[in-house]
Amino acid sequence: MVKPLKNATKYPIPPLSLHRYLVENLTTVVLLLDAQGCLMYMNPAGEMLLEVSLRRVRGFPIRELVPGDARFQENLQQSLASGHPFTERERELKLPHGRHITVDIGVSPLSETNQPRSLLIEMVQIDRQLRISREEHLLQQQAATRALLRGLAHEIKNPLGGLRGAAQLLERELPSAELMEFTRIIIGEADRLQNLVDRMLGPNSLPRKGLLNIHEVLSHVYQLIQVEAPPGICLHTDYDPSIPDIRADRDLLVQAVLNIARNALQALESQGRLLLRTRILRQYTLGQVRHRLVAMIQVVDDGPGIPENIRDNIFYPMVSGRTGGTGLGLSIAQSLLHQHGGLIEFRSRPGKTVFSLLIPVEPNP
Ligand SMILES: Nc1ncnc2c1ncn2[C@@H]1O[C@H](COP(=O)(O)OP(=O)(O)OP(=O)(O)O)[C@@H](O)[C@H]1O
Ligand SMILES: [Mg+2]
Repeated sequence: MVKPLKNATKYPIPPLSLHRYLVENLTTVVLLLDAQGCLMYMNPAGEMLLEVSLRRVRGFPIRELVPGDARFQENLQQSLASGHPFTERERELKLPHGRHITVDIGVSPLSETNQPRSLLIEMVQIDRQLRISREEHLLQQQAATRALLRGLAHEIKNPLGGLRGAAQLLERELPSAELMEFTRIIIGEADRLQNLVDRMLGPNSLPRKGLLNIHEVLSHVYQLIQVEAPPGICLHTDYDPSIPDIRADRDLLVQAVLNIARNALQALESQGRLLLRTRILRQYTLGQVRHRLVAMIQVVDDGPGIPENIRDNIFYPMVSGRTGGTGLGLSIAQSLLHQHGGLIEFRSRPGKTVFSLLIPVEPNP
């Protein structure tokens, strides 16, 4: 048992009542709804998450504070009616300003004698944890893919070299030139396969990194896609000019952004909007490593979104959702970013797909 402290009076209860003091300082969001589902109380963590002050929205129906999700509203109503608590994990909520957040939610109906039932909602935002575990997954996926590819490429390239050499020897010994058509096919196909394997492996030289301005890289990519884009596509830019120079290989970075921008163009087909955006992120964790500054390049399009059935695997080689696609563009881009200590992640739904290229800004040596 804990004995009371002798000098307990030295530790006075804080000015507000202790309960209120605790609730107001929790990082967990706490909301209290009345029997009609209207907001009675919200702690400061709730004000921060929902980006509104309690004074402004006290008495508002909860469906106006977190609109756009009929299922969640129904569950709240049911809980009020039945008195049963419920919890939901990884629920996405749309805030009035249009921002989407992901939260774990616990809902407890509170019943006091002679009082109408009220509802206590506790929420913890988990976007950050989700992002970090998704990124760790991406990095593991990347490492596994490369190991597999290296092994496979080795096994394919050796016999391929033999096949090609033998076809060349055979060609010299052929009695008639007409038969050369067949050795040409063998050599041509061997070269095609060799090319494919080389593309799958990505560049085989080490990156030649120098200090560069990412906006210079982007303006080059912009020029290239401007030529390729059909007239119905509007290209936009939204740059943060304060981003410091990063240490990177210019050609590789151009290649990575181009692969992603080309995908967006292909998804948009003949019309839509493509945006190139840059931002700087402070104290940002990539995988396990925390960086002071991370440069972010985003390629945003308002096309149909990534097909649901390939969404979890698009960074694997040979995964494609379009006819004629080899499914290598994203796998190569991801491996290029990996060579810069960065990574690519995405969010996609019909009407909005955002690919983010994240590159740590190394402190100047
Ligand atoms: N912005 C986007 N909008 C919709 N779908 C996309 C987008 N970006 C990628 N995808 C989907 O992801 C798939 C994989 O892209 P990836 O670049 O790896 O291969 P690909 O474009 O099919 O072939 P390629 O090797 O020529 O690039 C695409 O086929 C497409 O279905
Ligand atoms: Mg592609």
